[in-house]
Amino acid sequence: MKNISIGHVDLAYYDTLQGESWKGNIPQVNPLTTLLMVHGFPLSHAMWRPVIEELEKTKRCRIIAPDLAGYGESTSATLPTSLSEYADDLALLLDTLSIKEPVVYVGFSMGGYILWPFLMRYANKLKGIALVDTRAADDSDEARATRLKMARNVEQWGTERVTQLMRPNLFSAENMDSEVVDKTLQVITSTDPKTIAASQLAMAARPDSTSLLADIKVPTEVVVGESDQISTVAEMRMIADAIAGAEFTVIEKAGHMTPVERPVELAAALLKLVDRVAIS
Ligand code: MLT
Repeated sequence: MKNISIGHVDLAYYDTLQGESWKGNIPQVNPLTTLLMVHGFPLSHAMWRPVIEELEKTKRCRIIAPDLAGYGESTSATLPTSLSEYADDLALLLDTLSIKEPVVYVGFSMGGYILWPFLMRYANKLKGIALVDTRAADDSDEARATRLKMARNVEQWGTERVTQLMRPNLFSAENMDSEVVDKTLQVITSTDPKTIAASQLAMAARPDSTSLLADIKVPTEVVVGESDQISTVAEMRMIADAIAGAEFTVIEKAGHMTPVERPVELAAALLKLVDRVAIS
């Protein structure tokens, strides 16, 4: 992991250019596509590691996978109060790393919610989009009330309770007892309660972004685990249908956490997108 100071955040990020297999050598793929991989709630870039491992074998794209403000190894003097602020941090990260070519934004769940303000502010930084187990709609009243309750109480509850509340909705029945479940839940439990509260408030306040879908002009891949209960197959199919030319992939034996449950299949879908971006 590398660290970089961007405004109020000391942002930690993984960059394949520093990865073991690349050892600082930029592969001769012209132009080299950069994937900006944005994690979900309340996780860290670590959720992408199994997918990154697959993608790194091909050396066909550079990957930047940050820990958002307050998550993982990133520290922040003040926490974002809206999803737009997370989007601003990502744009600043790309600028600070001098990544001038547009990137492929890969957003998982909350990382996908952050795409919507990113798209409104920084469309010129995008040349492709992957929406992974995410949503474009805002919350129902009930879901919003649940978020606000967690935001109010998480410091008193402790993160173990957050983990227990989230666990049943994250994984498919096939994977419930696997090692990846434990690893993922450990990340949730180790997240700072203040960060959890800040993100819940930001997600509760997010607007419905479905009207943005028809304006997306870059190659797009929509991927969902077949038994995802948070962003369902039906909802993600509607997202794909609303984006001109979007490809839609349903991944078997995966719930919400497709990136850790089925990394090989997800990496294959992302590589298809990299190919489409290269010829677009
Ligand atoms: C996530 O995985 O990022 C969360 O489940 C998103 C949410 O709480 O809606």
